[in-house]
Amino acid sequence: MKIYQNLTLALFLSFSLGCAKKEQTAINPPLVPSPTTTGSLKDMPFPFGAAVNVSLLRNNVQYKELVIKEFSSITAENAMKFNALHPSETTYSYTDADEIVALAQANGKRVHGHTLNWYKSLPTWVTNFQGDTQAWENLLKMHIQTVVGHFKGKVASWDVVNEAFEDDGTYRNSIWVQKLGADYIARAFQYANQADPDALLFYNDYGHEYNAIKRTAILNLVNNLKSRGIPIHGVGMQMHTRYNQTDANITSAITSVAATGLKVHISELDVVLNPDNVATLSYTTSLADLQAAKYKSIVKTYYSIPKAQQFGITTWNVTDADSWIPTTYSRPDWPLPFDRNYVRKAAYQGILDGVK
Ligand code: XIL
Repeated sequence: MKIYQNLTLALFLSFSLGCAKKEQTAINPPLVPSPTTTGSLKDMPFPFGAAVNVSLLRNNVQYKELVIKEFSSITAENAMKFNALHPSETTYSYTDADEIVALAQANGKRVHGHTLNWYKSLPTWVTNFQGDTQAWENLLKMHIQTVVGHFKGKVASWDVVNEAFEDDGTYRNSIWVQKLGADYIARAFQYANQADPDALLFYNDYGHEYNAIKRTAILNLVNNLKSRGIPIHGVGMQMHTRYNQTDANITSAITSVAATGLKVHISELDVVLNPDNVATLSYTTSLADLQAAKYKSIVKTYYSIPKAQQFGITTWNVTDADSWIPTTYSRPDWPLPFDRNYVRKAAYQGILDGVK
């Protein structure tokens, strides 16, 4: 009877422990051991930033402290997009964006504005807007000048136009191109410049490292704007990339963008480990090391362009727990230099090693 009771207890215990373990695994998968890092992103020879989420800054002290401790530049992940700042034709809502700016100012960080013009994140009042060409032009101008004016002296730089090209190098058939023609891009830069002549103005897009046709189209646009005297000061390369992207492709991308002579911002960096969407993939030391090597080579190439053109590198989000990748692509992934427990990964050391 005693043996039987003990057996039941043992079975019960191992069952409950098993459940507890399983539950813990689901919430917080075991992480690979993190290396000891020597140095800090704050000591990088150019600004190193992250895109931040305003509700995490507000509600998660650990997140907020990490952002304050590690980064010298801040981009709002969503808080400065059109729908966030300008939800109805006559309403601007600055609460979230102002909070990010205040945190940056209180902690001596640069703020990069993202983004004045995009085909996504538009409020319905814009997508439903009825008006002639002049009315659309006013809408574009009013939005840009009101927003840039509001943040004048606080936001150092702007992504003026985001993602205007398709993968085949043609202009995306966005609502802006439909209503105003592709040369609205030039006027968007002029409007921003009129509202804050000191702000550095960027054209931002993705794909430079994996699509030479698109890259050429972007560079043609940028060079055309430059030659016409349009106030453009830099190019944002989003660089949402993967651990197995070739160094040759990344180098061609960075060096050809630098050849414009404009400032180069690696504006939305992340290095995914699960580009093929494998639902069962797990994070391993070898993947972590491959990722660290890719971060290092990106940073190393970036550091080799002329100093005056090194505007900075910004990661898109802060840690693997808040990365946009797993939710956007419905898959496990670990794209950032901090793990989901906010611990520095091998990738962090990779970034530091890139400037050694
Ligand atoms: C993403 C955000 O991370 C998401 O939270 C949001 O739902 C959609 O936008 N390129 C960009 C960024 O320029 O603005 C995008 O950010 C990621 C891709």
